[in-house]
Amino acid sequence: MTDRLSPPGRALVTGAAGFIGYHLSERLLAAGWSVTGLDAHSPYYDPRLKAAREARLLRHARFRAVHGRLEEPGLLAALVEAERPALVLHLAAQAGVRHSIDAPGEYVSANLEGTFRLLEALRPHPPAHLLLASTSSVYGANPRLPWRERDTTDAPLSFYAATKTGCEAMAHAHAHLHAIPTTALRFFTVYGPWGRPDMALFRFTRAVLADEPVDLYGAEMQRRDFTFVDDLAEAVMRLAARPPAPGAPVGPFDSLSPAAPFRSVNVGLGEPVPLLDFLAAVEAATGRTARRRALPVQPGEIAATWADTTLLGALAGPLPRTPLAEGVARFVAWFRGWDQSLARST
Ligand SMILES: NC(=O)c1ccc[n+]([C@@H]2O[C@H](COP(=O)([O-])OP(=O)(O)OC[C@H]3O[C@@H](n4cnc5c(N)ncnc54)[C@H](O)[C@@H]3O)[C@@H](O)[C@H]2O)c1
Repeated sequence: MTDRLSPPGRALVTGAAGFIGYHLSERLLAAGWSVTGLDAHSPYYDPRLKAAREARLLRHARFRAVHGRLEEPGLLAALVEAERPALVLHLAAQAGVRHSIDAPGEYVSANLEGTFRLLEALRPHPPAHLLLASTSSVYGANPRLPWRERDTTDAPLSFYAATKTGCEAMAHAHAHLHAIPTTALRFFTVYGPWGRPDMALFRFTRAVLADEPVDLYGAEMQRRDFTFVDDLAEAVMRLAARPPAPGAPVGPFDSLSPAAPFRSVNVGLGEPVPLLDFLAAVEAATGRTARRRALPVQPGEIAATWADTTLLGALAGPLPRTPLAEGVARFVAWFRGWDQSLARST
């Protein structure tokens, strides 16, 4: 089964025009995979950014773009039937904690129904490994830090988190019933070039460079386990080669299911950073001082996130750890170029 996980082979990446999907598609292509990237180019944030990421992927002869929604009846079933991917990276989702307060229905559709459609499509042709994007948000109100994979995830604080917990549960059932080796990747605040406009780094950098106030929603209280996207991509590539094998836990801390080839893995740095230090890194990288606007904490937000990375280390070995200052500087350099290209095109 794991032979199928060596390139050249075919991979399906959902959400390939998204931030993380773009970076992972680049990695897979560089490693020799043929990649089919499915993305709906949803309007949650500027679709020009998604089109620009996809245009870069299309420079590779082994990349094929498919536009459509996960939940479109028959779409994924036909794609899987035709391509029989050995590796599936499921990243497409409606992301964002805040937006899920205003538009929870979008999360039911993209995350719950979309994941259900993918799982059903894979039933007749199980891949050698399915990796699906989950989130640190599933730990919700759990106050015991750092979070471990075997901690409970039954107290979500946002509807986004609730749908991601649901995705993990559905994937576990299909792993059990239909022998689909599955890893749920619990990502911790990912940042880096080609990042998302709704996330802190993009918002901070845009405001600082425009000399506009930086909105800080209870930031003095918040700490995040920031993960640089290249470090995350390396971790996911190594995890992709380690599908869960029933009955073979890698240690007493393993989250491997007793009933299915399924585990969840924290993908983070394991080093929570105050959000205000993150803003200081933006100031250093831009050479400017932020004008801070203090605002109340948004409902659904978690005060601190912190990954226990014992399982990640056991499965993936020692991983690169880009220092925050370097990662933020690389984002700011990319952002300046992107902003200028938008200014030229409008
Ligand atoms: N960025 C982070 O810090 C972070 C943290 C935790 C979890 N995650 C998860 O990682 C995954 C990728 O996140 P990202 O930051 O790259 O987000 P993103 O919004 O940039 O990427 C998601 C992509 O999915 C596409 N999409 C949305 N709904 C779709 C649908 N119904 N059908 C087909 N395509 C659809 C979007 O157009 C987008 O390009 C998501 O599942 C997200 O929940 C991200």
